[in-house]
Order: sequence, then C-alpha cells, then structure tokens
Amino acid sequence: MEMNLKNKTALVTGSTRGIGKAIAIELAKEGVNVLINGRNYEEVERTVNEIKSEFPDTFPQNAAADIVDNQQREALFKKHPQIDILVNNMGIYEMMKYEDVDDEVWEKYIRTNVLAANGLSKFYLPKMIKNNFGRVIFIASEEAVMPSGQMPQYCITKSMLLSLSKSLSKLTIGKEVTINTILPGPTLSENVHHIIEGMYPNEMPFSEKEKEFMTENLPQSEIQRFIRPAEIGRLTTFLCSPYASAFKGSPIRMDGGMVPTIF
Ligand SMILES: NC(=O)c1ccc[n+]([C@@H]2O[C@H](COP(=O)([O-])OP(=O)(O)OC[C@H]3O[C@@H](n4cnc5c(N)ncnc54)[C@H](OP(=O)(O)O)[C@@H]3O)[C@@H](O)[C@H]2O)c1
Repeated sequence: MEMNLKNKTALVTGSTRGIGKAIAIELAKEGVNVLINGRNYEEVERTVNEIKSEFPDTFPQNAAADIVDNQQREALFKKHPQIDILVNNMGIYEMMKYEDVDDEVWEKYIRTNVLAANGLSKFYLPKMIKNNFGRVIFIASEEAVMPSGQMPQYCITKSMLLSLSKSLSKLTIGKEVTINTILPGPTLSENVHHIIEGMYPNEMPFSEKEKEFMTENLPQSEIQRFIRPAEIGRLTTFLCSPYASAFKGSPIRMDGGMVPTIF
C-alpha cells in the first residue's frame, strides 16, 4: 500500500538501533527523509549512511543529540526547525525493585522518558498545527496499562505518555495533525536478542531459545514470540500516513496479546 508520505521529514528519536531504527527504515521505505538521532555522532552517521545507501532517493540526515539535555535539544531545533513527523521513541528501561527506586531514579525516568518527548512536542507541534499537517507518535509499552511490578519507575512514565498524548491531541481539533501512542509488547531489539542468546546454551538455535523463553517467562503472550521491530515500524508508518487521520489521541496496542483485557 502506497502511504503517500514521499518527501515528508521525520525525526525519530533513538533511531540508531532497536525499534527506533526499524521505524526510520520503514519510513524511508515510503520515501520519507528521516532525521536519525542518538547520542553518539559516529553511530548516527553510520545509520544515516546505511539508510542513504538502501534508499538513495531519500535524504536522511544526522540529528545527533542527547535529547534529555535542554541545550542539546535547543541546538537540534536550530539545525532542524521544521519537520512533518515526530516519533518520540527514545526511552530507557531496566528491571528494578520498588524499594530500590529512590527520588533520583524517579526523576531520571520522568526526565528521560517523558520530559524529553514533551520538550520536542512542545517545539514542533505548533508548527505542524500552523502547516495543517503533522504526526506525533509516542512509543509507550504494554506496561503503560498493565504494570508488571518489575519496573515501577518505567511503567509510570509510559502511563504518563498516554495522558500527554491525549492532552496534546486536544490542541489539534479540526486540523490534519494527529498525536497517538503505540504500546508495543516485548520486542526483539538488539538488546533483547543479546539477552536471550546469553540465557541458553550456545548450540541451541535462536528460534528454540525464543520459544523456551516465551513459555517460561511470557506465557500470556498470544503470539509466543517477540514482536519484530519492523512490525512496530510498519504500524508507525501507517499511523503517520494520511489514511490514519481519524486516529486522534489514541492508545494503539501492538502487544502480541499480552494485555488480557478488551480495553
Ligand atoms: N524492546 C522492547 O521490548 C520494548 C517493549 C515496549 C516498549 N519499548 C519502548 O520502545 C522504545 C525503544 O526501545 P528499544 O528497546 O528499541 O531501545 P534501545 O534498543 O535501547 O535503543 C535506544 C536508542 O535510543 C538512543 N538513546 C538513548 N538515550 C538517548 C538520549 N538521551 N538521547 C538521544 N538518543 C538516546 C540510543 O542510542 P545512544 O545510546 O547511542 O544514544 C538508541 O539509538 C523505548 O521507548 C522503550 O521503552 C521497548
């Protein structure tokens, strides 16, 4: 399906690996000029070159910055003042016991997972509204609506994104601008792949390791496999397209059936 996104410009935060990189690739496949972001300039440059050689008709650019840092965010705005699509993908996560989450950790998670995305949205959204076209996507998690108890400091930030997304959506009434949140379930980023590889004997094929991990650790998953980053990338691309203009402030689950309830 042709997504009618050719020559749009998209900033995808945290796009040198994992879900963010897959989103950038899927957007580039549709002719979108992607701004690649991460904190490491060389790593970003490598990803830009990779995408440029795979999709030579597009103009990927280096948007390296630590987006949690106000000054670096300001510099990014100066370099890239105008975009059509903002994908707030970057987020940190780790398992933590509630007792170990002190105020510093709460603040770090809120600053990284919520305030960075909010800062970018606050800058780019008014321009999108003025242009009467724009897409903002937040990448949350199934943990936003189903906290597992294994990372309370993370879950709270992902729930906050759902609320932020709806509040921002209220600013777009009557405009061809949409703000939505995707809730991925467990997804096979390079990180996750590495962890699963290391959990089982070397001679075991990855497909077997994945199967065993799902049975033992994620029996509630209805797909009994990890979601592939490209699947999230394709959903994001659809939501960015003009075909998805009726999605307004919506939480969209692609969780492999992890959440057991209808809503
Ligand atoms: N993987 C999953 O199973 C899963 C499930 C549900 C939701 N999610 C969500 O999906 C998103 C992506 O997850 P992932 O697993 O793909 O992540 P990941 O593999 O850890 O990738 C993180 C990306 O963000 C960049 N980054 C980190 N801190 C940054 C900062 N301060 N400023 C700019 N870039 C930064 C990293 O590059 P540098 O380190 O070089 O900066 C990298 O490009 C997150 O929001 C996560 O919560 C993931």
